[in-house]
Amino acid sequence: LSAGDKSNVKAAFGKIGGQAEEYGAETLERMFAAYPQTKTYFPHFDLGKDSAQVKAHGKKVAAALVEAANNIDDIAGALSKLSDLHAQKLRVDPVNFKLLGQCFLVVVASRNPSLLTPEVHASLDKFLCAVGTVLTAKYR
Ligand code: HEM
Repeated sequence: LSAGDKSNVKAAFGKIGGQAEEYGAETLERMFAAYPQTKTYFPHFDLGKDSAQVKAHGKKVAAALVEAANNIDDIAGALSKLSDLHAQKLRVDPVNFKLLGQCFLVVVASRNPSLLTPEVHASLDKFLCAVGTVLTAKYR
C-alpha cells in the first residue's frame, strides 16, 4: 500500500465511522446470498434474514477491519491472533477472503457512493487484499 492508499483507507473508514457495524453485517449477508458456498463455514449460525448472530459477527468483522485500518503500517501485527484463528483453526479457504472483500466494497458503493471514487476504490481493494493475505498467511 502506498502512502496515498493508506491515507485513502484511513479517510474512508473515518467517513464510515459509527456505521461500521452495519457495514459488517450487510457484508456478511451479501456474501452468504451471493456466494452460498461461504455458508459452509457457519453451520452453527442462524443465517436467516435479520439474524442476530450474523449482526453480531458483522460487528466483529467490522471491528477487525477498523483495527487493521488504524494500524495500517502493521496489519500483520494488529491481526496476528485473527490470523492464527483463520489459518490454523478455521482453515478458511483463501478464495473466500476475496469474496468477502468484494461484498464489503459493494456495501460501501451502495451506502456511500460518493466515497467510492476510483482512487478510493482501488486503495480499499488493496487494503482488503492485504487483510486477506494476513489472515491466510499461517497455513501449515
Ligand atoms: C471469526 C474477522 C474473513 C469465517 C472471525 C472473528 C473475526 C473475524 C473478528 C471473530 C474472532 C473471535 O471471536 O475471536 C474476519 C475478517 C475477515 C474474515 C476481518 C476478512 C476481511 C472470513 C471469511 C470466512 C470467515 C472469508 C469464511 C467464509 C469465520 C468463522 C469464524 C470467524 C467461521 C468463527 C465464527 C464463530 O464461530 O463465532 N472472523 N474474518 N472469516 N470467521 Fe472471519
